[in-house]
Amino acid sequence: SFITGSDTTVFRLIWSQSDCQGSSPRLALEKSLVWPSKDTQCLHTLKHLQNGARITVQMPPNIQGHWVSTSCEVRPGPEFITRSYRFFHNNTFQAHQFYYADDQCTAPSYTLLIRGRLRLRQASWIIRGGTEADYQIHGTRLVCHSASAARELAQRLKHSCRDLGSWLPNVSYELWSDCGCALNFSMHELQLLRLEKQYLHHSLDQPLEELYLGDIHTEAAQRMLYRPSSYQPALQNTQNQDLSCVVCRIVSSSDEFDPPVLPLRPELTVTLRGQWASRRCEVRPAVLFLTRHFIFHEDNHTWEGHYYHYSDPACRHPTFSLFARGRYSRGLRSTRVMGGTEFVFRVSQMRVTPRDLASTSLLNVFNGNGCGVQGSWQVGVEQDVTPTNGCAALGLRLPHTEYELFRLERDAGGRLLLFNGQRPSDGSSPDRPERRPSSYQTPLVQCSAAGGQRSEVSAAQRPSSWAGDLAAAAVWSLAFTGFLG
Ligand SMILES: *[C@@H]1O[C@H](CO)[C@@H](O)[C@H](O)[C@H]1NC(C)=O
Ligand SMILES: *[C@@H]1O[C@H](CO)[C@@H](O)[C@H](O)[C@H]1NC(C)=O
Ligand SMILES: *[C@@H]1O[C@H](CO)[C@@H](O)[C@H](O)[C@H]1NC(C)=O
Ligand SMILES: *[C@@H]1O[C@H](CO)[C@@H](O)[C@H](O)[C@H]1NC(C)=O
Repeated sequence: SFITGSDTTVFRLIWSQSDCQGSSPRLALEKSLVWPSKDTQCLHTLKHLQNGARITVQMPPNIQGHWVSTSCEVRPGPEFITRSYRFFHNNTFQAHQFYYADDQCTAPSYTLLIRGRLRLRQASWIIRGGTEADYQIHGTRLVCHSASAARELAQRLKHSCRDLGSWLPNVSYELWSDCGCALNFSMHELQLLRLEKQYLHHSLDQPLEELYLGDIHTEAAQRMLYRPSSYQPALQNTQNQDLSCVVCRIVSSSDEFDPPVLPLRPELTVTLRGQWASRRCEVRPAVLFLTRHFIFHEDNHTWEGHYYHYSDPACRHPTFSLFARGRYSRGLRSTRVMGGTEFVFRVSQMRVTPRDLASTSLLNVFNGNGCGVQGSWQVGVEQDVTPTNGCAALGLRLPHTEYELFRLERDAGGRLLLFNGQRPSDGSSPDRPERRPSSYQTPLVQCSAAGGQRSEVSAAQRPSSWAGDLAAAAVWSLAFTGFLG
């Protein structure tokens, strides 16, 4: 439901899982798939993306307050970082970025303290559910946490910063703006914001608040230019924190002279066995909303992926879905990204189901025999596009290979989370080893430890990345041909 304010363009988008009734898209999706009982847990996970919590999105967001990371975040590069951002009533902000030498954020190397001003603009019409903003930086300070970090940074900045001299640990230095460039550092993440409030069953009047800021371009050289079109992992408000979030507490009580040191956790060996599903409606660059469900068979190294695409940030209005499958092989532990394990995925079969009129039209007007039987697409009817080597209309070609990066973790509730590689921000595919990701996307949760048998029924998809390209192509096609109005 929309509540439209009058003088300001305030509106709130509210949804709850219990709204999804009658002829809602989600129910339609459920009907169209025959889910073997073994998979009900995965179905349940996908249907109740927020564990039954009610989510509201506040627009424009009131972000005043103190926001902190909930985990050790991995940025492209890789960079290992935790964040502690404060937004004040007078529109100024103070952002701590703590950088680390390791993937568990136990060894702080340096901290940036950025001060500036933020001005919220309008609701983004490109990234539905997001708010655009402008910012100015008033000053950036840097503190190194060890002599080796200081030496290493001084070396990196030697040719671009004036007046460095020799840096000492635990001393705060003002950085010139050209130093920021040399660090490939920017605060463009502040150009796109989304504030979600989660009303959990047991605390109706104390919602959990999560602030999503814009994503970081996967290529260092593009960071200074890139306007975000997706999000990083959410920051949590320290006012009404999830008590189980140990990391939040550590980060919120830290500063540039006393950086957060996160507890060391046992590193989990990546085993893909079983089924994995999205925990939330995921946002991909270039306006894509989707949920994913993967099944891996470790005994014969095959996988299936189901990708459900939506037109809205709550994943309630399906546009199309994909099933893909193929083989995968496990590589070595990454030498580039600490904590990551390399994999190679091949997609050899694919099926497409348009789920709304716009997607159906797109597929039907597409000329030639590049995607199924030309002109034969109908809403809700799946076609195997393997014979046409994929679906050119959606930018998906078969066979396809992707170079992947995986990591396994446990959440506070002990459930296994599977992270796979962030897709290149330029919309390309990691189809060559040198394009292998160095950071991760939103994790999937293990919803069944067994392989399941659902393939021949109606759907399937591929692990992670590729759906993004696919979807990007589709959305751009739709945008250019005007089907979405
Ligand atoms: C804005 O508010 C913060 C926190 O109250 C304060 O430290 C800062 O000096 C203020 N800045 C300006 C420009 O008023
Ligand atoms: C760094 O300085 C702060 C205060 O200036 C002090 O509390 C802290 O102990 C110092 N840390 C180290 C490693 O010297
Ligand atoms: C910044 O990006 C450039 C590529 O544009 C890269 O060569 C350089 O090493 C990066 N600098 C740092 C400090 O990561
Ligand atoms: C791989 O194993 C799974 C489960 O054991 C089975 O359902 C699937 O058909 C097998 N795939 C191939 C290509 O053999």
